[in-house]
Amino acid sequence: MLDKTKKDWFKSAVAYQIYPKSFQDTTGNGTGDLKGIIKRLDYLKKLGIDVIWLSPVCKSPQVDNGYDISDYRDIDPMYGSLDDMKELIKEGKKRGIGIMMDLVLNHSSNEHKWFKEAKTSRDNPYHDYYVWRDGTKDKAPNDMIACFGGSAWTWVDEVNQYYFHQFAPEQPDLNWENADLRREIYDMILFWMDLGVEGFRLDVIDQIAKEPDLKITNNGPKLHEFLRELSRETFQKGCLITVGEAWGADIERAKLYSNPDGSELSMVFQFKHILLDQGNEKWDLKPLSLVELKKTFADWQIALHNKGWNSLFLNNHDLPRTVSRWGNDKEYRVQSAKMLATMLHGMQGTPYIYQGEELGMTNIKLNIDDYKDLETLNMYKERKEKGYTHEDIMNSIYARGRDNARTPMQWDNSENAGFTTGTPWLSVNPNYKDINAEMALNDENSIFYYYQKLISLRKEYKIFVDGDFTLLEPEHGKLFIYSRKLDNNEMLVICNFGDDKTEYKLPNEWKNANVLIQNYNDIKTDVLRPWESMILYK
Ligand code: GLC
Repeated sequence: MLDKTKKDWFKSAVAYQIYPKSFQDTTGNGTGDLKGIIKRLDYLKKLGIDVIWLSPVCKSPQVDNGYDISDYRDIDPMYGSLDDMKELIKEGKKRGIGIMMDLVLNHSSNEHKWFKEAKTSRDNPYHDYYVWRDGTKDKAPNDMIACFGGSAWTWVDEVNQYYFHQFAPEQPDLNWENADLRREIYDMILFWMDLGVEGFRLDVIDQIAKEPDLKITNNGPKLHEFLRELSRETFQKGCLITVGEAWGADIERAKLYSNPDGSELSMVFQFKHILLDQGNEKWDLKPLSLVELKKTFADWQIALHNKGWNSLFLNNHDLPRTVSRWGNDKEYRVQSAKMLATMLHGMQGTPYIYQGEELGMTNIKLNIDDYKDLETLNMYKERKEKGYTHEDIMNSIYARGRDNARTPMQWDNSENAGFTTGTPWLSVNPNYKDINAEMALNDENSIFYYYQKLISLRKEYKIFVDGDFTLLEPEHGKLFIYSRKLDNNEMLVICNFGDDKTEYKLPNEWKNANVLIQNYNDIKTDVLRPWESMILYK
């Protein structure tokens, strides 16, 4: 177990993200719940993780699956009760597994009591908790578009004003300029810290300092001032792991966020590697260039070494399954899932595993009516109106839609994959008979045990946590090879990115090195097989 009394324990930690709606149902209502998570803690313990990033479980009308919170201090009845949450925290701690709550601080739900009050009158003390601008009913203050489509402004008759929302109209943006609001947020965070949570993930944190008059969403001028105050008033009173979601973060900003002096957060999720195969819009695809991918990872690895801290991730609840996107989820599903894991877990930073990634769960193709994600459904409607063909739009959804990652966790080959005895809120991927946790646990060569090994290597060899990083063969279009060094030791990570064999002469000095992990049974010194990967150490 990690010693979580040390300030920098987050550097040795491995996190696991749970999307509670899809993890484990215990009531038969078709959605996951907190008791379901408690039931599966031993599974997570076996995997070896140290913390769970729990996507939002607070009270919410669920317009955006909990990213629209109507009470920050209570649990949504769909997930259970505050007592269940206390039980989860307690049972987790017993197993060395902490809970990281998801803090949605850029916006609340329009059902939050603050907003209900705010929209009644301009004189209401809560009015200023949100971002309002004058205008006329038929003319919004400006033409800003919300992330989920449509105008970023919604009119309210009672106050004759528009409120600003970077996401859905049901997610009004909070006004961080208001000191009373900030105080309420800090007190709420301290409430959860008192209950024993061990960390927080901060939703779209780079958007809190918006300046809509200047059309600024991410990286507003006061962002880091706000973050330093937030951190001082809350996180720094404990010994926590904190990570901010920051689509707009570049390397220099990441150094501020993850400043080793602890003045902001432990680390950020930045998305430069994720954005590489994206065209002008999220839904437009372009082929992934391995050379660019390597350069992106290498730039971050090198720049943050001793200057900040990386998070390492390929998957989350907003992204397609990487094994489907960048790997081969058919013939080489197992090898490519293991290869992607090797590539990522060999680097410096805190790895985050998204539920089902450790099983090699894949994307799904549904009929448009069976999708649940509002972003996907809004986009379908908008693109239809713009004249895109159904087929075109569906191809974007298959590749990029958020429901790819949100299908229920595949526990076993019983009906509904053991996720629920009722009707699952989102279709179970029909491949659950071949891809499920029970099978993985019974197969010593499974992806699950490969992740377990990667996690245990990180605990055993300091080089994973502290070693520096050198990218080798940067221009090679098939191989991703890098080395890490710490004191007199060196580690070589070799990954063959693709369905083809690739010539590769293992350098002589590595021929007798220890093989820490590999995804084939042996090593050939002159060729790498499809999606082959290994980590050598000397
Ligand atoms: C973040 C969340 C996403 C949510 C959005 C609005 O990007 O990860 O799921 O829809 O914020 O809260």
